[in-house]
Amino acid sequence: MSLENRGAFIVFEGCDRIGKTTQCRLLVELLKSRDIPVLPMHFPERSSHIGQVINSYLTNSKDLPDEVIHLMFSANRWEHMNQIKQKLLEGNTLVVDRYSYSGVAYSAAKGLDFDWCYAPERGLLKPDAVFYLRAPADDLTNRGEYGKERYEKVEFQGRVAKVFDQICAKEANYWHQLDASQSAEDLHAQVADIAVKLVHRVATQDLDKLY
Ligand code: TMP
Repeated sequence: MSLENRGAFIVFEGCDRIGKTTQCRLLVELLKSRDIPVLPMHFPERSSHIGQVINSYLTNSKDLPDEVIHLMFSANRWEHMNQIKQKLLEGNTLVVDRYSYSGVAYSAAKGLDFDWCYAPERGLLKPDAVFYLRAPADDLTNRGEYGKERYEKVEFQGRVAKVFDQICAKEANYWHQLDASQSAEDLHAQVADIAVKLVHRVATQDLDKLY
C-alpha cells in the first residue's frame, strides 16, 4: 500500500462475554500475518485518569449517577480521538473492542433517554465497520467469569442486546451482525473475509464522523 493510504477503523460490539476479545485477537493476528499494519484497542481504556474512575465504577468500588458515568465513558473516547485519528492516517488499521454503541446500549438499558445517550458521541470518528456479535442472553451465563463486574447480569444483558439490535437496524449499512454461538474459528472466518476486503476498500477514503 502507498504511504497516503489510511488504515481501517474496525469495531467489535456486543454483550459481555460474547467473545469480542477473542475475535479481536484473531483478527489482529490475521492482519499481521498479511503484513497489514494493525493495532488493537479497547474501550473503556482504563489506564487514563478517566479510565481509572470508570474501572472503580465497574468493579463496584465507586458509585456514580448514571448520567455521570455515561459522560465519563464518552470522555474516555474523546480523550483518545486525536491518537486514533493519527494512527489511522499513518496507515494503521485499528481493531477496537467496544466503542460509542456500547456507551449508548448500556446506558439506554438502564433507562436513560436514547438520544441523550447518543449526543456526546456526535463528532467522534465513525468506524468503517462494526462487527456485532449476537447470541441469546441465556447463553452468556455459561461463559467464563460471568458475573464479576457491575453489568454482568442476564436480565440486564438482555436489555442491552435489545438496544444493540435497535442500533444495528438503524446503522445496517456498516454493521455486520454475526452469530456468536458458532465456533470461534467459524466466526473468525466470516469476520476475516469482510475485514480484509474492507482494509483495501477504505484505504483511499476520507474518515467520517458520527452524526
Ligand atoms: P469491557 O468488559 O469490555 O472492559 O467493558 C466493561 C463494561 O463497560 C461492559 O459491561 C460494558 C460497559 N461499557 C459501558 O457501559 N459504556 C461504554 O461506553 C463502554 C465502552 C463500556
